[in-house]
Amino acid sequence: MGKNEVAVSLLNVDVEGAISLFYNLETAKVDYFHIDVMDGVFVENYTHDKMYEFATTLANITNIKQDIHLMVKDVKKYVDIYSSLGRNRISFHVEAFDTSEEIIDMINYIKDTGNQVGLAISPDTSIDEIYPFLPYIHCVIVMTVQPGKGGQTIIEDTITKITYLRNAINEFNNDIDIEADGGIKDTNAELVRNAGANILIAGTYIVKNPNLTEAVRKIRGQ
Ligand code: DX5
Ligand code: ZN
Repeated sequence: MGKNEVAVSLLNVDVEGAISLFYNLETAKVDYFHIDVMDGVFVENYTHDKMYEFATTLANITNIKQDIHLMVKDVKKYVDIYSSLGRNRISFHVEAFDTSEEIIDMINYIKDTGNQVGLAISPDTSIDEIYPFLPYIHCVIVMTVQPGKGGQTIIEDTITKITYLRNAINEFNNDIDIEADGGIKDTNAELVRNAGANILIAGTYIVKNPNLTEAVRKIRGQ
């Protein structure tokens, strides 16, 4: 299993003061900046304009990898927009497509841009929908809240999905990252890590915390 890492979601970060926050988050040793792209179609909210502004700024000021989470219906459109910002990680939702062939095609399309590729899965989707794609992807984002907004409470049932997925990955014996996304904070981080997630994504808990370094350490389990 890959090492324990922390991704900070920028969904609820205000544009005002964002750059100094990015520098402070780098100092706090986040491993990824998690970019939550919403198109207003796949999910009700629309965040692309702000997320693209953040992503382009980050590409110019830091080498920390971006973990781009596409909550969009037209996946190709947004891959074309976000794939030229450097060697990042781009994940899309399995629920955005109807067939495995389309998912495999998009996995290859993202790889051809030079970015790593991940699949994201919403709470109501069965984890075994992911299994056929495990040999071809770098990570799985297991949504631990309904996609679409920050500041929600973790859906406890999703934690067992992480364990089933980690067991399936262990059978393949290849090192795919499992990212847990949504409602992650100091009081549930250990439970989620022990379930098998090695990258924990936190937005509100980190960004609203007066001590960013302490917050990141708590999510990483140090
Ligand atoms: C929700 C996003 C998550 C969310 C995390 O659709 O994918 O990344 O912003 O934010 P918190 O940690 O506040 O739940
Ligand atoms: Zn996310």
